[in-house]
Amino acid sequence: MALAPAGQELDRLSFVTAWLCLPLLAGTLLIGPLHVRRTGRLPGNHLVRRDLGIWCVITGMVHFFLAFKVSMNLEYMALYVHGADAWPAPPIRELMYRWAVLASLAIAVLFVLLLALSNNLAIRLLGNRWWKRLQRASYPAFALTAVHTIAFQILEARTLWLVAAFVAITAAVLIAQYAGRARLRNSRDT
Ligand code: HEM
Repeated sequence: MALAPAGQELDRLSFVTAWLCLPLLAGTLLIGPLHVRRTGRLPGNHLVRRDLGIWCVITGMVHFFLAFKVSMNLEYMALYVHGADAWPAPPIRELMYRWAVLASLAIAVLFVLLLALSNNLAIRLLGNRWWKRLQRASYPAFALTAVHTIAFQILEARTLWLVAAFVAITAAVLIAQYAGRARLRNSRDT
């Protein structure tokens, strides 16, 4: 924010919090597979994962509120949606924008649910089975965040290194989750 051009401090904070939220969310989904790799079992209530998750929701929600302010207005629409002359064409851009915003609303609901689950009281009240089931809301939250990120990376024509960072983070989560599941299946079969 200190380095942002005058008048763009909030845009900068929105961008930075979005980019803090993404690796934190990925981190929460990497801990399970890493634990399975080490122990052959799924983790229960993992405290580091809980901490990462809480910070992910805090940063994500700061971005959520800021982005509503800085990106849901006529100026933004004129610059990146209706008035942009880069690929893709404005009607497609409008569709992408609409779905990206809808995805963000769904993510916010899932984040609130996940935050409510991030304490011992929730585990005691729900029991392990239901707590674990509801905690799987982190998967759709990650999938929707990926969709939202792709849409805004296209709309704002992000630089190659930001696209590469997103691809690397998403690939790490997908590969780790796949490997974790394969490892669990193998240890159940033997
Ligand atoms: C909790 C919900 C949300 C999450 C997890 C989330 C996540 C992200 C992520 C990871 C990026 C980085 C993509 C990039 O620009 O390279 C991003 C960018 C962006 N998001 Fe969100 N987002 C959320 C809600 C929203 C909402 C409600 C809006 C309102 C329109 C929004 C608008 C934007 C915009 C305009 C960008 C481009 C970068 C910027 O200027 O901040 N996001 N978001």
